[in-house]
Amino acid sequence: MKSSVIILHKKFEGFPTESNFELVQEDVPPLKDGEFLAQAEYVSVDPYMRVFPVEVGKPVGGDQVAKIIESKNEKYPVGKYVVGEFGWRTHTVASETPGSFFNFPPRVLRGYGDLPKSLGLGILGMPGNTAYFGFLRICKPVEGNTVVVSGAAGCVGSTVGQIAKIMKCKVVGITGSDIKGRRLISEFNFDAYVNYKSPNFQHELTEATPDKVDCYFDNVGGEVSSAVLNRMNKFGRVAICGAISTYNNVPGKASEVQTPVKIAHVRMEGFSVTRWRNQWDEGIQQNMEWIRQGNLKYAECISDGFENTAKAFIDLFGAGDRNFGKVVVKV
Ligand SMILES: NC(=O)c1ccc[n+]([C@@H]2O[C@H](COP(=O)([O-])OP(=O)(O)OC[C@H]3O[C@@H](n4cnc5c(N)ncnc54)[C@H](OP(=O)(O)O)[C@@H]3O)[C@@H](O)[C@H]2O)c1
Repeated sequence: MKSSVIILHKKFEGFPTESNFELVQEDVPPLKDGEFLAQAEYVSVDPYMRVFPVEVGKPVGGDQVAKIIESKNEKYPVGKYVVGEFGWRTHTVASETPGSFFNFPPRVLRGYGDLPKSLGLGILGMPGNTAYFGFLRICKPVEGNTVVVSGAAGCVGSTVGQIAKIMKCKVVGITGSDIKGRRLISEFNFDAYVNYKSPNFQHELTEATPDKVDCYFDNVGGEVSSAVLNRMNKFGRVAICGAISTYNNVPGKASEVQTPVKIAHVRMEGFSVTRWRNQWDEGIQQNMEWIRQGNLKYAECISDGFENTAKAFIDLFGAGDRNFGKVVVKV
């Protein structure tokens, strides 16, 4: 049997392009004791893959949802689904050995019922936990707070905004598309949105936050974040989750941040979601419960065909109105 595998063919320089990747075929070895064979159903593309690339010539890393089709390990029975850090490949011989980036062993999906298994890559996986732990533990929202989230129409951002609503906060999302912004309000319970591409962005942000900002969940960095930092209330909390505006070596442009942070006694804290690895199930279970209660919605942007994985990844950095929620590839 052969596995299709996408390797990093050439080092990234600036924005990723198709030429950075190559599709190759690999032999799938026979199983040894303790191993199982997983067939990919959904492959994840995530912004961090641009920041922490694999070595040139190696398969691109990342999570996938896969079906176990052969097994010599009773913890991974045939027919079950796992989320595993198997990377961009169609077939994987795996064991309990943790993945090399997130360092989790493959996790058997449980309790999904009618929910799509692809959610294990999004709201019921790493990005959902990023929203859950990063927002609640670092922003420490209080009822009535004004919460601003950038990258609001992505998986992390749209989940943060809805959790903030569950916490009875006022939520303003920042996105680069009016279509996405209107959807945040009509479907995802946001109170308002601001388009960072608008020439009047700073003014519109001020209008949308008449009581200024208590919590800022930052997914994008750069100028957008400088603007928000100048709107912080005293003792505001800022969670630095990501800085996608800087990931493609776009020269950093941001006004001075120290003075507004000092004046408002703001606490800024960066995090990686793996900080909460020992409580991982808490986030997944709580997000699943909120989904079942109808308090948390999810959106997925599903790209069809393994051969389109690189394109789906490239689109994370500029698909305009198209990408909303978690981007996954249906193999
Ligand atoms: N700290 C952690 O442990 C952790 C874990 C997971 C994710 N993250 C970070 O969280 C952020 C969101 O992740 P996600 O998976 O939900 O991805 P995502 O938000 O779906 O990322 C893609 C979106 O980012 C926006 N974007 C792209 N280029 C931009 C730019 N130059 N300026 C502003 N926005 C831009 C685009 O939306 P618009 O159309 O609105 O521009 C695009 O659709 C990323 O920064 C990611 O690296 C951190």
